[in-house]
Amino acid sequence: MLLNYRDDRLYFGLEPQVCLADLVQSLEEPRYVYDLRHFARRYEQFQAAFADLPHMIHYAVKANAHPAFLRRVAALGGGADVVSGGELQRALDCGIPPERIIFSGVGKSQAELRLAIASGIKQINVESIGELRRIIAVAEALDKPARVAFRCNPAVDAETHPYIATGFRSHKFGIDAEAVMACVSLVLAAPRWASVVGVSLHIGSQILDVGNFAEALRNTRPLASALRERGFRLATFDVGGGFGIYYDTGDETREQDNFARYAEVIKQGAQGLADEILFEPGRFLVARCGILLGRVEYVKATPYKTFVIVNTGMHHLIRPALYQARHRILPVVRRAERTVTADVVGPLCESSDFLALGVELPEMREGDWLAIADAGAYARSMASEYNLRPFPEEQFIVE
Ligand code: LLP
Repeated sequence: MLLNYRDDRLYFGLEPQVCLADLVQSLEEPRYVYDLRHFARRYEQFQAAFADLPHMIHYAVKANAHPAFLRRVAALGGGADVVSGGELQRALDCGIPPERIIFSGVGKSQAELRLAIASGIKQINVESIGELRRIIAVAEALDKPARVAFRCNPAVDAETHPYIATGFRSHKFGIDAEAVMACVSLVLAAPRWASVVGVSLHIGSQILDVGNFAEALRNTRPLASALRERGFRLATFDVGGGFGIYYDTGDETREQDNFARYAEVIKQGAQGLADEILFEPGRFLVARCGILLGRVEYVKATPYKTFVIVNTGMHHLIRPALYQARHRILPVVRRAERTVTADVVGPLCESSDFLALGVELPEMREGDWLAIADAGAYARSMASEYNLRPFPEEQFIVE
C-alpha cells in the first residue's frame, strides 16, 4: 500500500516511506507529492507484461508532464505520446528522442505539425482527412516526409465516464473505415511526403472492463487487413492508453489482477497486426504515485451539512467536479474519537469546487492536513490558477 497508517500517522510511498505528519510540519500551502519509484515500478511492470510482444511504451504526457517523469521515461528507454506542440517540445527537452515520440489529437495546428515533421518524430496519428492534407502540405514545404498512422474509430462504446470515452461513432476522434480508404488515396498521390506506417486506436480513459479493449481490436482487424491488401506493411499498431485504476477502494491487488487480464486481451487481440505494438498509458503509470496535500482552513457546521473547507480544491484536482471521480481522502493524523460525514470543499467561489461529497472522515479541526490519494494523473496537468490562486508546488520524495 502506498498510503497507510502507523500509530495514526499517515505514511506515503514505497518503503522506506515518508511520514506525512512530519512533511506537513513546514507547509503552509497545498502541495503535490510524488514517489518516482512507484512510477518506475509500474513502467517496468508494464514492460515485463508484454516482454514476449515486440512493443514500445509511449507515456501519455498529458497525464503528468513534470520533467522528472519524462526524464525517467527517457532513461528507461520509453517513448512519449504527445498531443500538443508544448508536450512535444517538453518530451524532446527531457531527452526522449524523436524516433520514440508519437503525436495524437484532433486539432494539430500548422505550427505543431511543422515542429513534429521537422523533428522527425516516429509517427503522427492522423484524425481526419483535413489533417492529412495539412500534413502533406507541411511536409512538402519543409521538404521532409512525414510518417502517419490512421487513428481509427472502432465504434466501441467503452464503459467509462462519457466525457472520457473516445471510441464511439458519435465522438470527435478517429476516422471510420471508409474515410481511411480516402486517406489512403491521398497518401498514394503524394508518396514523397507521407508514408503510412500504422494504425492507431484509443477508445477512452479509466476503462476497467478489458472486454472493451478486446472489442476495439476485433473491430479494427478488418481495417488492418484491408491496408495490408493495399500493399501497406504495418510497422506499428497503436492500441492507445486508457487502462484504469480503482480510485474508490485503492485496491492495488485487484488492479494487478485486472492488468494481467488486460495484458492477455491485448496479446491475443494484437497478434500479427504489425511489427511493433505501441501503448500510450498515462493514468496506470502515474496516477497512484502522487498525492495532493491540503490543509483544513475551517470546519463549518450548518443545520444541513458539515463542510471541511480546505486550501485546495477543483483548481488543483478537477476530477471529482468534472467526472464525479471518487478519490480517497485521508487525514494526515488520524484522531480516533469520532467520525463526521462531510463535504470536503475548496476555497473557490462556486459550488462545483469540491473534492468529495458526503464522505465519512475522522473528526477534523482547523489546521489539520488531508491527503487526497491518486493525484499523480490529471491533477497538476489539469490545474488552473482560477481565483488567482497559485499552482501548488510539486515535491518528489525520491527522485
Ligand atoms: N492516448 C490518447 C490519444 C489519449 O487521448 C489519452 C488520454 C491517453 C493516451 C492516455 O489515457 P490514460 O491511459 O491516461 O487513460 N482527464 C481525464 C482523462 C482524459 C484522458 C484523455 N486522453 C481524467 O482525469 O480522467
